[in-house]
Amino acid sequence: NLRTLTSFLAVTALTTGLAWGGQETLLEQSRSYFEPIPTSAPELKGNPATPEKLLLGHMLYFEPRLSASSLISCQTCHNVGLAGADMQETSVGHGWQKGPRNAPTTYNAVFNTAQFWDGRAKDLMEQAKGPVQASVEMNNTPEQVLVTLNSMPEYVELFKKSFPKEKEPVTFDNMARAIEIFEATLLTPNAPFDLFLKGDEKALSAEETQGLDFFINKGCVGCHSGVNMGGTGYFPFGVVEKPAGEILPEGDTGRFQVTNTAGDEYAFRSPPLRNVALTPPYFHSGKVWSLNESVRIMGSAQLGIALNKEEASAITAFLKTLTGEQPVVTHPVLPPQTDQTPRPVL
Ligand code: HEM
Ligand code: HEM
Repeated sequence: NLRTLTSFLAVTALTTGLAWGGQETLLEQSRSYFEPIPTSAPELKGNPATPEKLLLGHMLYFEPRLSASSLISCQTCHNVGLAGADMQETSVGHGWQKGPRNAPTTYNAVFNTAQFWDGRAKDLMEQAKGPVQASVEMNNTPEQVLVTLNSMPEYVELFKKSFPKEKEPVTFDNMARAIEIFEATLLTPNAPFDLFLKGDEKALSAEETQGLDFFINKGCVGCHSGVNMGGTGYFPFGVVEKPAGEILPEGDTGRFQVTNTAGDEYAFRSPPLRNVALTPPYFHSGKVWSLNESVRIMGSAQLGIALNKEEASAITAFLKTLTGEQPVVTHPVLPPQTDQTPRPVL
């Protein structure tokens, strides 16, 4: 009879994971686009992790003496108490200068295949050498960094232990390698959405589930997928409709500045959306503080659709389920300076 048939089909649908009509369930669809954040650091090619290297990288991340002023460290703009970001529209660095772009979080950055808003660094190791030298960030030189590190015996010892096979282990590249190892531990697993992906369908509320459905089926997933839900490709900001000039300032042409290729004008890396609720303001310009508003802008700019109030709220609710467990990071005690340590230059 019909009831038996209905419950048979329901059970079959549940056990095979298929919804009515052979359509994929939302969980199955999600698993085809996204992956949970791993609970431990991934291995890095050519840069094996050791406890010594991790400690060194941890210290260097918090080391303000890598900057010319001895005031600015990675932690200044990628604050481990603020989800790895700085809560500024665009970062403020050496001499109180304002940089051109919003600081992305360092959390889970190891999973981004494109680093920076324009992808100009290929991985975290290459990336870490940038800010130290950028005049609007730490305003230092590799040579001066080595003078600083070599001036403190504790660092020299730790570099030796971290790179035991090398004759001269205190190098700018090894600084970057150690920082990369530390950054690979800045992960935020077990977000409600991760629990969902692992099979706990109750981890999301009805509204969050609806938001996930919109996120996939309205097309956000086209640019925000993978383990970080973004951080893998470049897309023109304003594919369909150009956002307001303030949000997309004319002077920053994004990916075009790296490739000089027609079609890359105003293309930016689709940002990872992990912990996005914790890292306002949004977009490379940092001009939008409301997550709900960013979602609506994405609808019109990238998809050419006007999301209504309910849709935008549901998607926003879903994005909040991407907030994972934040790593608890201690502030390391840094080596005492010596007479050889360069003095701050402001
Ligand atoms: C980008 C790490 C210092 C501001 C990044 C990214 C990483 C990172 C991994 C790329 C993230 C992504 O693309 O998703 C570090 C490390 C630092 C450091 C290891 C110390 C050596 C700083 C400082 C500032 C800063 C001191 C601020 C003055 C920024 C900004 C971007 C960025 C604005 C985006 C730049 C762009 O896309 O053009 N950083 N950072 N960073 N960081 Fe840092
Ligand atoms: C930025 C969500 C669709 C590409 C963002 C941001 C959010 C978001 C919240 C800001 C993140 C941050 O600044 O940290 C969404 C949602 C979508 C959607 C909810 C669906 C309604 C798309 C599509 C594309 C795309 C379809 C590609 C065609 C981008 C790019 C940025 C971005 C390139 C960076 C823009 C910039 O600052 O220059 N998205 N997105 N997004 N998204 Fe989307």
